[in-house]
Amino acid sequence: MKFSSNSAAFTLGVILMTLISQCYGDLKVGYYAGKCGKHNVEEIVFDVVKARATKDPNTVGHLIRLQFHDCIVRGCDASVLIEGKNTEKTAKPNLSLGGFEVIDTAKDVLETVCPGVVSCSDILILAARSAVSLSGGKWYYAETGRRDGRVSSQKEALANLPSVKMPVQQAVHLFASRGLTKEDFVVLLGGHTVGNVHCNNFQDRLYNFDNSGMSDRRINPALLSSLKNTCPRKSKINKTTFLDQTPNSYYKMDNGYYKQIVANRGILEIDVNIANSPLTNSIVKKLAYSDGSLFLDKFGQAMIKMGRIGVLTGNQGEIRRSCRAINH
Ligand code: HEM
Repeated sequence: MKFSSNSAAFTLGVILMTLISQCYGDLKVGYYAGKCGKHNVEEIVFDVVKARATKDPNTVGHLIRLQFHDCIVRGCDASVLIEGKNTEKTAKPNLSLGGFEVIDTAKDVLETVCPGVVSCSDILILAARSAVSLSGGKWYYAETGRRDGRVSSQKEALANLPSVKMPVQQAVHLFASRGLTKEDFVVLLGGHTVGNVHCNNFQDRLYNFDNSGMSDRRINPALLSSLKNTCPRKSKINKTTFLDQTPNSYYKMDNGYYKQIVANRGILEIDVNIANSPLTNSIVKKLAYSDGSLFLDKFGQAMIKMGRIGVLTGNQGEIRRSCRAINH
């Protein structure tokens, strides 16, 4: 049920959601129903994301990536949002994260209508779900009921965030250690169907792949020349391009990413590698060549699963009052 301005339909949706609510541990669909007075927490988050994404389409990619970077390090506990010396945010792979101000805005609204009730970790999950839906993905029933962590460490982020050069087998292993299957891993990488990438993350593939002094052979020649144009060898400016190069689909959730990577039009090394590795290439092909709804169905389910990693519930953690700082 996607939110509409029709409040009768909306109320019915909330009731239905509560009735069909599924529990996973202490998480459940519709956890905040009735916990924020007459206000609907999920709708508030959706509206904030929608307003922001209408102004800036990059918001969608920012928020989906934010869920990944939060959940993979110390679980989905909003530890990625905390400011300060040597927090996760300060780790190099996190310097290109965005979307923090969207979470702040949603939190501000929620703190006004029901202070101290909604966790930042749930806002983050609901914001990512809103982003998926707003970019053409399928609506899914995100679970809520998380509490926020009190620890955030740069070291941990560096140790747990995968690099673009991580071998597929290791990446599969990393995801497995978080309860995600090989298929979940390949499906979640489909998040790369929306969003941007900076030149520094693939520059070596254009000019000096594996220190060979040559470009990566696995790049389509037309794409190679266009990428070289965007990312000149000696440029001091770290420009961006789209992770999914399908024309007119840059901000759209679809299986275009898989079609691109099987056609040697992947941007990051990891994208290219999942298309070529015997461990994952059959899954990639299935997603690329099947009806596009297969990916859309699976993506939401995989986001729900990722949202279960290492959650804090019950008396654990806290409900942060500002998403950028732990409570004192
Ligand atoms: C081995 C796993 C992964 C690696 C190595 C990886 C790496 C990267 C890199 C290097 C970027 C570009 C950052 C930049 O230059 O600004 C990126 C962007 C992105 N990634 Fe991944 N990623 C992985 C998995 C995932 C997963 C599981 C998701 C989500 C479910 C995801 C969602 C995104 C999105 C949406 C963007 C675009 C961000 C934006 O436009 O702000 N990635 N990723």
